[in-house]
Amino acid sequence: MGVLRRQGVEPTVVLQELDALAADDVDWADGRLMSGIYDPGETAHDLAAEAYRRFLAPNALYINLYPSAAAMEKDILDSVIELLRGDEQVAGSLTTGGTESIMLAVKAARDHARAHRPEITRPNIVLPVTAHPAFHKAAHYLGLEVIMTPVDTTGFRADPEAFAAALTPDTILGVGSAPNFSHGTIDPIEAMAAVASEQGVLFHVDACVGGIYLSVLRRMGGMGREVPAFDFSVPGVTSISTDLHKYGYAPKNASLVMYRDRELRRHAMFVCSATTEYAVINPTVLSSRSAGPVAAAWAVMRHLGEEGYERIVGETHQATGRVLAAIADIDGIEVLADPEIAMFTLASEEVNVFELDDAMKARGWTLLPQFACGGGPANLHVSVTWTNLPHMERFVEDLAEAVEELRDAGPAVDRQAMATAVAELEGAPLDHKMISLAGLAGITGDGVPEKMAALNTILDLLDPAERDQILATFVNLMS
Ligand SMILES: Cc1ncc(COP(=O)(O)O)c(C=O)c1O
Repeated sequence: MGVLRRQGVEPTVVLQELDALAADDVDWADGRLMSGIYDPGETAHDLAAEAYRRFLAPNALYINLYPSAAAMEKDILDSVIELLRGDEQVAGSLTTGGTESIMLAVKAARDHARAHRPEITRPNIVLPVTAHPAFHKAAHYLGLEVIMTPVDTTGFRADPEAFAAALTPDTILGVGSAPNFSHGTIDPIEAMAAVASEQGVLFHVDACVGGIYLSVLRRMGGMGREVPAFDFSVPGVTSISTDLHKYGYAPKNASLVMYRDRELRRHAMFVCSATTEYAVINPTVLSSRSAGPVAAAWAVMRHLGEEGYERIVGETHQATGRVLAAIADIDGIEVLADPEIAMFTLASEEVNVFELDDAMKARGWTLLPQFACGGGPANLHVSVTWTNLPHMERFVEDLAEAVEELRDAGPAVDRQAMATAVAELEGAPLDHKMISLAGLAGITGDGVPEKMAALNTILDLLDPAERDQILATFVNLMS
């Protein structure tokens, strides 16, 4: 029907319509959404909203017109660089998210190599299988090859020897995560950065999700476990991405990319003054952008202060420890790895985790299914944040109940039969395959089914490249 009608309507009506649109959205504030929400609580939330509103219109592109935006960005960078133990040489930019920060770090590495290692004609980046898809996206956009390396399948941390062995004369960037999103574990950054540096290769630490959390935790003494060094204190680390809109508890969209020095940052720049337009001078991918997220992030950090972050990290870390201990007592389910942050994955040899996902959904919880990969089984990701804390005991109770229910009932999805059907479709044209798989998954044409276990099981059985193709085709048709 579209939004634009002949006549406009009053703001009160518009707001009612927006509320009606949101009626089917997940209720993130009820504390049972277990990923993708980082809200600092009512006071800081409202403050962020007000700060956002005041700076909604200013275009942060024009720092000459809005020195406030530049000043806020500098304040934020100064504080986070200090948290990450960078010196005065470190320089960065505020971006719209982890993906943009990573895109810029990869572009900087590519253009740095063009300038300093011109003999490289087919550049590649080397990353563990646990690295975020944003690196694959950056490589795709920037014309680079990706070499993936294994992780150990109990700890889900990168194998530094495999990483070293994967570096080639054409490698322009190595990557480690602190932590990776999937399992919440920190790669051996010191060992990896040392190898990269020996070979003259730049090294990026993806601390998008955990940079602020882990730095605060380190300053608090680690709460019983040493936080491995992952920041600019590690020789060989040449860039780091850290999101403010994750465990920095700022609203979206706000992230930082930081470079060891300005010489490297220079390679992230894009400048063009060769058209009839105004000269474009961009240290980031976006050009025009609202100063709202900058102001909101500044306001949250100013309001919480170090003490506020320590309270949030401390309580979240403790609560997660209690949850992990309680899950260890639930038969039929396990936590993969031994996470260093308030994120973990649930796997099971007894029940289909995708059925468990549906069973938890029936109890009001939203978890995040992840497919089997890199030697690890399919699992459900859980991120614990401030909003979830009052509900974590209930989470464990519901989880125990759901696992028991599924163990008693036996599998509803016949994985073996689906594996046979998927195997029989090998080599079939994509269209035919999609129709057959959709039928198998119970997709009727009215969007995705309420219970996702069958669909997720099928997707889990597919080869990743084929799965990507099917997902791209499906989402392209649906949206
Ligand atoms: C470790 C890590 N890196 C990068 C990203 C991408 O961040 P964004 O979604 O803000 O683009 C994420 C998102 O969850 C992440 O967890």
